Amino acid sequence: MQTNTHEIADRIYRLSTCVLDAAPGGFTFNQFLIDADDPLLFHTGPRRMFPLVSQAIARILPLERLRWITFGHVESDECGAMNEFLAAAPHAEVAHGAIGCMVSLNDLCDRPPRILADGEVIDLGGKQIRHIDTPHVPHNWEARVIFEQATKTLFCGDLFTHAGDGPALTAEDIIGPALAAEQIFHATALSAATTSTIRRLAALEPQVLAVMHGSSTRTRCGDALLGLADVYDLMIKQD
Ligand SMILES: [Fe+2]
Ligand SMILES: [Fe+2]
Repeated sequence: MQTNTHEIADRIYRLSTCVLDAAPGGFTFNQFLIDADDPLLFHTGPRRMFPLVSQAIARILPLERLRWITFGHVESDECGAMNEFLAAAPHAEVAHGAIGCMVSLNDLCDRPPRILADGEVIDLGGKQIRHIDTPHVPHNWEARVIFEQATKTLFCGDLFTHAGDGPALTAEDIIGPALAAEQIFHATALSAATTSTIRRLAALEPQVLAVMHGSSTRTRCGDALLGLADVYDLMIKQD
C-alpha cells in the first residue's frame, strides 16, 4: 500500500490510501491536511495506517507542527491514530463537538479534547474552519462536518462514500457511485433528520467537497448535496 497526496484546493491536501480488498475495485481511505499557520488534519486514518499517513504528512510539513486533529465521528478510520498523532505533535489538540467529547473522546484521547460549540469557528491563520453538528448524518450520534471558509471546502466525511481508486478530483457524477456503495455497505442512517441536514450543508454553497472514501469534487457541489438528499428522501419513503 502507498499513500498518495494531491492538493485539491489552495493548501488543502488529500492523502489517499487504497485498500484493494475492502470493496470491488478497491476502497480509498482519505485524510485531509490543511496547511495553515496552525495546520489541521481531518480524519487520522486507522491506527495501523499511521506510518503511511504520517510519512505522507511529513512530505508536506513537519509532523510536529500539527495543531489540530479532528474528524467526523468516532470510528477507527476517522480517529484510530489520534493518540499516535498526539504523541508525535506535542502542541496538537483533538477538537470535536460536545456529544463526541462527552460520549467518547474525553475518555479515549490521551490529552483532553477541545469541545466545539455548533457553528464555532477556529482561525487556523490563513484558513478558518467552522464546526457543524450533523447528528446521525451520515451515521453516529456525534457526527459532524467542518467547512473551511476561505476556500469554501466542505469536509463531508462519509457522505458520497464510493468504491474504487479514482482520481483525487472528479468532474463526474458522484451520486450514482455513492448509491452503489450504499447498496453494499448500508452505512447511512436514514432518519427524519437526514435530508434536512444535508440540505443545510448545501446552503453553505461549498465549492469543494472533500470526500473521505472516493474522489473529491469541485463540480456543482451544492447540486450534488441536493441530489443526494432527494434520493435519500425517496429511500426513506420506500421504507
Ligand atoms: Fe463512518
Ligand atoms: Fe469513513
